[in-house]
Amino acid sequence: MVKDTYNTSSPLVILAVESSCDETSAAISKNGRVLSNIVATQAVHENYGGVVPELASRAHQQNIVPVVHQALREANITKTMLNAVAYTQGPGLLGALLVGSSFVKSLSWGLNIPLISVNHMQAHILAHFIDEPRPKFPFLCLTVSGGHTQLVVVHDYLDMEIIGETLDDAVGEAFDKIAKLLGLPYPGGPYLDKLASQGNPSRFPFPISSMPAMDFSFSGVKTAVLYFLRDQLKQHESFIEENLADLCASVQATLISMLLEKLEIAAHQIGVREIAIAGGVSANSGLRSQLEKLAQTNQWNVYIPKIEYCTDNAAMIAIAAHYQYLAGQTDTLTASPNPRMKFGRK
Ligand code: KG4
Ligand code: ZN
Repeated sequence: MVKDTYNTSSPLVILAVESSCDETSAAISKNGRVLSNIVATQAVHENYGGVVPELASRAHQQNIVPVVHQALREANITKTMLNAVAYTQGPGLLGALLVGSSFVKSLSWGLNIPLISVNHMQAHILAHFIDEPRPKFPFLCLTVSGGHTQLVVVHDYLDMEIIGETLDDAVGEAFDKIAKLLGLPYPGGPYLDKLASQGNPSRFPFPISSMPAMDFSFSGVKTAVLYFLRDQLKQHESFIEENLADLCASVQATLISMLLEKLEIAAHQIGVREIAIAGGVSANSGLRSQLEKLAQTNQWNVYIPKIEYCTDNAAMIAIAAHYQYLAGQTDTLTASPNPRMKFGRK
């Protein structure tokens, strides 16, 4: 068990950098409290309908110095006050990860302070320890992002067990790909969410693929929407524009029900009432409100991150690094990014 207190007579100040995909972010934490969290979003990808890895790396290179300076400035911390530096080791895009890791390794070497390598998905879950209220161990976390959909039993800060995951697309990917079919900009998840609030969620019932145990599959829904739209557009070419809000609401309701069905099964099976969600898709307003309702029925305590800690940010990397530092998990300068990095009990 990692102790969550720290001797405040010698503060632990960490600079963390996140660069796994298309946000360049830096944060400062002091004794496990976030003092600043700066995020630079890369608008360049909007023109391409998806993240272009090479453009992401170049944008990280441009953003990283100003973002780190701003994080230090807002926290009122100078480089010499840092006790450790942390970065996202993976999973993510190799070129993007390399920018953050090289930058942070240089700082570790130049300032002669420990380096901490953080798993991005584990950090999404640990974002629940940035603020109050904090979930009590063990809790069940539904982690939903652009690259992952997982059910994780969190036994302790650094002791996690994946009990279910997607066998194909991540749910964020499903949101984005379907949004693209509907002609929405990239990333489509937030746009689809906004339009869904004005539509009828039962207007277009899409088939739900049923997976064994606690695993998920989202590629079937995406294909079902693709074929449905293709058939409708043959008869009526402005079908999407005329029904956009109802289409968004129906897609969103389908994806949410697939997530919550498995979450409920898992919670009953492992017998926990402490339930959390994490990752970019946990910003979805429908998921947040449906989860609150389910919590009342099941008498769960639910933990939903603040919007700024749902999508990619370095505050979550700083918090993960804080607990790793306390557990003695520091790294050497030979550490390198791992685009397919895993976490959890083997
Ligand atoms: O965690 P995240 O920022 O990056 C990854 O680690 O992948 O998640 C990004 C994903 C994207 O697929 C984005 O469309 C989705 O989160 N997302 C949303 C919403 N906000 C972000 N999906 C649905 N509704 C939202 N409000
Ligand atoms: Zn993420």
